[in-house]
Amino acid sequence: MLSYNRPLRVVINALSLATVARCASFDCSSFGQSVDLSSYNATILNSTHYAAGELNESGTVNAVPFCEVYSSVSYGTNDTIIFALWLPDEQYSSRFMAVGNGGQAGFIAYNDMMEELNSGLGFAVAGGNAGHLASDNEAGTGLGLGAPGVYQSFLHDEDQVKAWLHNAISLITPLAKELIKIAYGDQPEHSYYRGCSAGGAQGFSLAEFHPDLFDGVIAGCPSNWFTRLILGFLWNSQQANTNATFLSDSVLEFIQASVIRECDLIDGVADNLVENPLACPFNITSLACSEGSSPGNATCLTPDQLSAVKAIYQGPVRSGDPNKSIWPGVALGSEAGWSLPTVQGLLSHVFAVPLLQNLVYDDLEYDPATFNWGSDVEVVEERAGGLINSIKTDLSSFRDRGGKMIVFAGWADPNISPEWSIQHVEAITQDTIGPGTTIAENDFVKLVMVPGGGHCGANIAKYPYVPAHYDFSTAMVDWIEKGQEPVEGIKSWGPTNGDERTRKLCTWPQGAKLKEGGDVDDWESYTCE
Ligand SMILES: *[C@@H]1O[C@H](CO)[C@@H](O)[C@H](O)[C@H]1NC(C)=O
Ligand SMILES: *[C@@H]1O[C@H](CO)[C@@H](O)[C@H](O)[C@H]1NC(C)=O
Ligand SMILES: *[C@@H]1O[C@H](CO)[C@@H](O)[C@H](O)[C@H]1NC(C)=O
Ligand SMILES: *[C@@H]1O[C@H](CO)[C@@H](O)[C@H](O)[C@H]1NC(C)=O
Ligand SMILES: *[C@@H]1O[C@H](CO)[C@@H](O)[C@H](O)[C@H]1NC(C)=O
Ligand SMILES: *[C@@H]1O[C@H](CO)[C@@H](O)[C@H](O)[C@H]1NC(C)=O
Ligand SMILES: *[C@@H]1O[C@H](CO)[C@@H](O)[C@H](O)[C@H]1NC(C)=O
Ligand SMILES: *[C@@H]1O[C@H](CO)[C@@H](O)[C@H](O)[C@H]1NC(C)=O
Repeated sequence: MLSYNRPLRVVINALSLATVARCASFDCSSFGQSVDLSSYNATILNSTHYAAGELNESGTVNAVPFCEVYSSVSYGTNDTIIFALWLPDEQYSSRFMAVGNGGQAGFIAYNDMMEELNSGLGFAVAGGNAGHLASDNEAGTGLGLGAPGVYQSFLHDEDQVKAWLHNAISLITPLAKELIKIAYGDQPEHSYYRGCSAGGAQGFSLAEFHPDLFDGVIAGCPSNWFTRLILGFLWNSQQANTNATFLSDSVLEFIQASVIRECDLIDGVADNLVENPLACPFNITSLACSEGSSPGNATCLTPDQLSAVKAIYQGPVRSGDPNKSIWPGVALGSEAGWSLPTVQGLLSHVFAVPLLQNLVYDDLEYDPATFNWGSDVEVVEERAGGLINSIKTDLSSFRDRGGKMIVFAGWADPNISPEWSIQHVEAITQDTIGPGTTIAENDFVKLVMVPGGGHCGANIAKYPYVPAHYDFSTAMVDWIEKGQEPVEGIKSWGPTNGDERTRKLCTWPQGAKLKEGGDVDDWESYTCE
């Protein structure tokens, strides 16, 4: 995720640490101590056993007892990656799950690890810091993100840059599998990966660069064309940046409400959601202020505001050629999420500008206002593309060894264009399987577009009622282990407002259709059509 918050870990009953140190089949406290791991360039740092309910990661406690093992692996010329491996006592089902990183990485995604540990699927779970420390991202200011003019040391070490989006998971996976063998006697039968945002890019990197490591890869809201994503951030920050073009929260909410009013009912369900924005004929020009009306009360848009909104829907284009897209824009129905950080530039300031200054131009004074939307696009590609993109569309090696992918995107994600996922899976389908093949016919990549979905789950943009959790792990396990394609739909649950509502997610281009008389808020009332 593009998350800015570091996880908060609380050990609930520290006293029991001393007494509970024995796992079902191995001694956690001395785990791996007698094994020579030098062929992995690795060292075990420490290990700790947690009884059920003993570890609280940002509000979620472990449902099963497990042994946490920290290891470091050296890589590159002088670099180190650190990762945690969680080995359940009894519940292990010969399944391995690695989780990816968010944003500029540098710390372990414990929350995602906890979700997988608690999934009931019996995973041994690994998560790493992607090969550098958060303090290498931003000179120790604590957020794990860049800022204009700040030297980010990891962007000046090519091995660390490649580790971040290309190799983070492959660097820890062979050792993780070996440690699983030490713990349970055998390597895992099945290996899975789940990541979102930067973690979605790491997922595409696994399929492209390391196709043998994982059976199933779940890649959400992927930033795998990172060079273009940052240009999207830069573009957005240049649209609504004057008093005349400024889009206040109330203006953005007004636009979103107008979109929903027009397109909610297209799918036959009144739920304050646009099921498929591509089928929504909303015309933003219809919100233009007429003569005499005033924009002051957020009931219409001035010409300047209109052009800003259109440019943000469109995404960056080549200067002088509005038909040449550099990166697709965001979708109808995502508008309330444009306030902070998309439009007003935070994402540009923490991702685009630091990356241009540190990685592309190697000049902390580089002024992003001078970016040329023609020739400079190639400069960014040439200098950074080979280090941070994973956009190969022929994934035959991965498909041929039986690899499967679930790619998902939130239709109301204000950060990473959901249409990018459609375009990219379309291109993969054509290039890997054959020209003329449709996404629906793709036998190794399934795409899921989440109606009202935000960036990697919960949607802060006036969609507190949209389920924010998705059961992709179960869908992937069933696909790999039972051969069941996830075409019957996937359960989503847990809106942030606390409602019990569940919904069915369908594989693109299908959408969820309510059965006659069915309960709107029960996922089993829907079929995928
Ligand atoms: C360990 O490091 C050496 C030297 O850097 C390298 O050649 C080797 O491939 C590494 N081994 C593994 C398993 O990564
Ligand atoms: C184990 O090592 C990790 C990684 O260096 C560190 O964050 C953690 O605090 C250590 N835990 C213990 C109990 O020493
Ligand atoms: C876990 O920590 C959160 C705060 O991060 C707290 O609100 C919650 O009550 C804790 N849960 C348990 C079971 O202790
Ligand atoms: C290797 O990295 C360490 C820690 O960052 C640093 O102190 C040391 O100087 C580096 N050594 C070389 C040869 O670059
Ligand atoms: C917007 O207007 C305020 C005063 O109303 C002014 O101080 C500010 O500089 C203006 N900002 C821009 C970007 O023009
Ligand atoms: C959008 O609305 C404007 C003004 O109402 C109209 O001039 C224009 O033709 C419409 N565009 C489309 C594509 O319908
Ligand atoms: C906004 O609406 C209020 C109440 O409807 C009205 O009194 C006020 O004049 C309006 N302001 C503008 C700038 O249109
Ligand atoms: C862009 O495409 C439209 C529709 O295909 C076409 O009418 C227009 O002339 C094109 N504009 C440019 C600048 O190529």
